[in-house]
Amino acid sequence: KNLGVLASGRGSNLQSIMDACAAGRIPARVAVVISDNNDAYALERARRAGIAAVAVNIDDYTDKAEYERYIVKVLMEHGVHLVCLAGYMRLVGTTMLDAFAGRVMNIHPALLPAFPGLHGQEQAWRYGVKYSGCTVHFVDDGMDTGPIILQAVVPVYDDDTADTLAARILEQEHRIYPEAINLYCTDKLVIEGRIVRIGA
Ligand code: GRF
Repeated sequence: KNLGVLASGRGSNLQSIMDACAAGRIPARVAVVISDNNDAYALERARRAGIAAVAVNIDDYTDKAEYERYIVKVLMEHGVHLVCLAGYMRLVGTTMLDAFAGRVMNIHPALLPAFPGLHGQEQAWRYGVKYSGCTVHFVDDGMDTGPIILQAVVPVYDDDTADTLAARILEQEHRIYPEAINLYCTDKLVIEGRIVRIGA
């Protein structure tokens, strides 16, 4: 299967997905990486791996729908089956969701439905929770509200800072995002409404 990854920044989750594909832990390949940020290190990671890297500047389009129509076109041109958001810092609009219904995944650095939106790690740390983690979910038209596929839990220690907690969570992101993509690519996910089970 062909994966399309959307990333706005450093791309460490992208790297974990590319590495898992290269190692045969996901029966798929990253066919294209798209960024809304021309300076994203994610684009550099893609180029180094010989993967098509496309920067798209939203200011070049009249509105979000036109911007997303272009992204959808690029994804289609690369035969993408599954779109993986990996630090993509925008809400996905109806244009992309309609084109890839049920085929867009995201990773969020908190245990949803707690702490959606930006800086989930810091939100959780400031709240004073004793456990946090990360969530891989399908994307719907809300903010981090779609059906949950996998979660991983990490402890929060008294001497943590938002940064040390974020680092502990990131390790788990790099583990469960490739795992969730593998489950999807091997047709193991059974979806009933908002409940996602792992089938045989
Ligand atoms: C990760 O923490 C991810 O959970 C969040 O944005 C961050 C992206 O990091 N959605 P990277 O670009 O994958 O390194």
